[in-house]
Amino acid sequence: MAPVAVLACEKDCMDGVTQRWIDNYALPIQTLLTNIGNQINQLVPPTAQPPTVTYFLQPVQATYNSEISSALETAIFPSYFHGKCQLPPDFTINPPGCPNPNCPVVCGTPGSLVHFYGKLRYIAYNTTLHMLENLVKPGSETYKEIEQTVLEHTTNPPPRMFKRFIPRGSLIGNDYSKFLKNRRSADVKSQLQVILKSLGPQLEKMCGGNGDGTTNGLPDCSWEQATKAYILTFP
Ligand SMILES: *[C@@H]1O[C@H](CO)[C@@H](O)[C@H](O)[C@H]1NC(C)=O
Repeated sequence: MAPVAVLACEKDCMDGVTQRWIDNYALPIQTLLTNIGNQINQLVPPTAQPPTVTYFLQPVQATYNSEISSALETAIFPSYFHGKCQLPPDFTINPPGCPNPNCPVVCGTPGSLVHFYGKLRYIAYNTTLHMLENLVKPGSETYKEIEQTVLEHTTNPPPRMFKRFIPRGSLIGNDYSKFLKNRRSADVKSQLQVILKSLGPQLEKMCGGNGDGTTNGLPDCSWEQATKAYILTFP
């Protein structure tokens, strides 16, 4: 028998489809980080504003940039889409539409990605969401970095009125400003936590749904027509 050309979503296709979803999400994520960044910057006095809106979120952006590709590629292939499309009993006949352009069997071909587009869309959303949520989870390295940088930008001058009554450098003045500083730090920390916790729900809202995996879900993070056309450029 002559060797059969293998039609599947192979390396170029897997890399390309993964990158496509990263590109699809670039603008929503930029908008999201800008929203969150604006909120965080309000915790910082006008005199200590950072150089860019998303300055405090740089650790999130950097870790996302370096980790999303492999996480997403694994989540799509092989975690969900993999293997041959031919079915029992003899595994030689392609079901109608397989391998391309619209294959109703979950397998590792472009046609299968197209047929189960709702699932693909959900995997991309869920992976993106989980990664970002983990990066802003209290206790994570990125969270600690953000918190530390924000606190460094939070200066705590004692109120002017109080200052007038307390000689500079006196014990009571120092104690009072330390007290203010601690109280302010605790406020900033808890407000920061509330802001960062809103990241997931904000992304969900931006995507227009609750991401339950149905075909009609996530209308604003779907990019269906263009992404399907791109997927089918692979053999
Ligand atoms: C969503 O993503 C997380 C992390 O990648 C994974 O553990 C979880 O199983 C996913 N949920 C669904 C419903 O696929």
